[in-house]
Amino acid sequence: MLKPEIEDGQQSLADPQFRADVLAGLARRPRAIPARWFYDRRGSELFEAITDLPEYYPTRTEAGILATIGPELAGLVGAGRAVVEFGSGSSAKTPLLLRAVNPSAYVPIDISGEFLRASTQGLCADFPELLVLPMEADFMRPLTLPRTIGGAPKLGFFPGSTIGNMIPLAAVDLLRAMRASLGEGSMLLIGMDRIKGEDVLVPAYDDAAGVTAAFNLNLLERINRELDGTVPVAAFRHRAIWNDDRARIEMHLEAARNLDFSVDGRSFTMAAGDTIHTENSHKYGARDARILLRSGGWTPVHEWTDADGRFAVILAEAQAERPAP
Ligand code: AVJ
Repeated sequence: MLKPEIEDGQQSLADPQFRADVLAGLARRPRAIPARWFYDRRGSELFEAITDLPEYYPTRTEAGILATIGPELAGLVGAGRAVVEFGSGSSAKTPLLLRAVNPSAYVPIDISGEFLRASTQGLCADFPELLVLPMEADFMRPLTLPRTIGGAPKLGFFPGSTIGNMIPLAAVDLLRAMRASLGEGSMLLIGMDRIKGEDVLVPAYDDAAGVTAAFNLNLLERINRELDGTVPVAAFRHRAIWNDDRARIEMHLEAARNLDFSVDGRSFTMAAGDTIHTENSHKYGARDARILLRSGGWTPVHEWTDADGRFAVILAEAQAERPAP
């Protein structure tokens, strides 16, 4: 199930999809590269550092919610479900959930085998009795869950407001795909960041220490490392802006001067002020979140927020095939 370990320090071959996304993204207008390509080893480390920043409230707020809802969640979900975590990453919040719901199995799904292996090892030590079945896969595509978990009802876990990276069209597609993968009788526990003032949102994505800037700019470094790029990284600035119409934070990389570079032998030109759009982080009000879930085939059952209403954790159940009118 897991690919063999890549030797430390070995330069892995560039992902052909990364090359295709970068070349197409720099050629189109507006320029845009999908946010999933932030997460090479360095990018994953920088994201971990972001989650500790004083300005970046989502991670600690969500963990605080998960730490308090255990008994109530257990009552709503029942014991013995198979927990399926989408994009498990470093899985810092997972122990909180597993302790609460006493599952029959745990299936972490992540596109990065390296991260999966590390987090799975830690979990197996903490939960020696638990059946852990990691899957290295892109959860944006339909999945076949391991046979071993059999008929156990599923609880999907999608924390971190990762859904916010997707435009609503893609978010609905993903929610429907999750419903198809998890099956009838399944439930979903999902974290969604709430809409709030720009005074809080913008610093969360443009911190004083410059860690988010480094995270954004690392995409250009990665292009230079893996795609034989000549991007003058020092000539780019990190930008985080609130798009109120679409209720999302956008991250961009802005050229500070006119510049030229090549990637994989192809030439690109940018004028001073031109940008590459690198990430969307959509925020959802309470009703927005419920409409999104229903659109994706999930009926909200319960929701929890922190005292300041900054972040929401929502429990939903799979809608029946033919909902009543
Ligand atoms: C991992 C997508 C939830 O949107 O808040 C953090 C990524 N980007 N700072 C987010 C991110 C810049 C994060 N998600």
